[in-house]
Amino acid sequence: LLDFELALEKTLKRSTHFSGLRQVLDYAVRPPGKLFRPRLLEALCADLGHLNHENILFLGQALELHHAYTLVHDDLPCMDNDVERRGKPTAHIQYGEWKALLAGDSLLILSFQLLNKVRSPQEQYLRKFFTWATGPKGLILGQWLDLDHQKIAHFQQILRIHELKTARLMQVASLGAYYLSTTTLLLREMKTFLRLGSDIGICFQLLDDLDDLNTEQLSDHENNINPFLLAPEAAIRQLSKSFKQLVDLPYPLTKKFIHHYLKTSCASLKTKHVWQKYFQDDQKIILEKLINTNYFSA
Ligand code: IPE
Ligand code: IPE
Ligand code: MG
Ligand code: MG
Repeated sequence: LLDFELALEKTLKRSTHFSGLRQVLDYAVRPPGKLFRPRLLEALCADLGHLNHENILFLGQALELHHAYTLVHDDLPCMDNDVERRGKPTAHIQYGEWKALLAGDSLLILSFQLLNKVRSPQEQYLRKFFTWATGPKGLILGQWLDLDHQKIAHFQQILRIHELKTARLMQVASLGAYYLSTTTLLLREMKTFLRLGSDIGICFQLLDDLDDLNTEQLSDHENNINPFLLAPEAAIRQLSKSFKQLVDLPYPLTKKFIHHYLKTSCASLKTKHVWQKYFQDDQKIILEKLINTNYFSA
């Protein structure tokens, strides 16, 4: 496994000579969370036979720094107003709002700095896709729609938000792995990797939504946006569909990685019981069956 954590530590050390700012950047990025996006990229690159570690480290860090920026901003009082992230106070609780805001801005710029270090025949397409996926037609629009919750009436709208706010970055990892690994671009292959990133992202966000129901007191925003509260039948059906799509992946290392993640998430959902109070008996049975599934062998 590549040492993304060490790479990030080194990158952040060089990010600015001003130690006050550097400290907030470091706080937002390290210790890292699951490193899901860089690890997804790494696994797919290994499956596709792309072994240029420098490129994977650059793009992997770009993904993680970008992810960290979205989290710092997502937690701000004007957005989700959260006080805890990764078991510690959120950046704005620890350092104050303007410092968190500027740290988020810095991480966003740093992510593009890292992206620009990638050297590959497809680098211009990679940059274009990264920019599209994270910009005002992508992740940022997803965050906008997520907060604009008066507009949400149908499950399909929530799915669209998941696609934008969460799956787009997963698609940068999946299509990015393809861009790094090939000299000729095939439309059919590109579609396959977009599809994969989308399936993973939607499944990932649904499991996160289900896990969000494990707090005793839900926030107003959560009550307004959580698909398992707004449209439980549809959300459960979609989760089941997403699981099915991820059972048989043609990439062995990626499959192992995804299955391990899904197994761990399901196991942790099983041990928490608060989420169950939100469902009818028949829904509980389907959900319990789903997370007890032996689909995921890795
Ligand atoms: C949390 O992402 C935000 C979502 C998109 C659900 P992660 O679950 O990847 O967060 P960390 O990086 O592991 O903390
Ligand atoms: C976070 O989504 C998605 C992005 C930051 C792009 P959520 O707001 O649902 O994730 P958590 O629950 O804060 O981690
Ligand atoms: Mg949010
Ligand atoms: Mg949030």
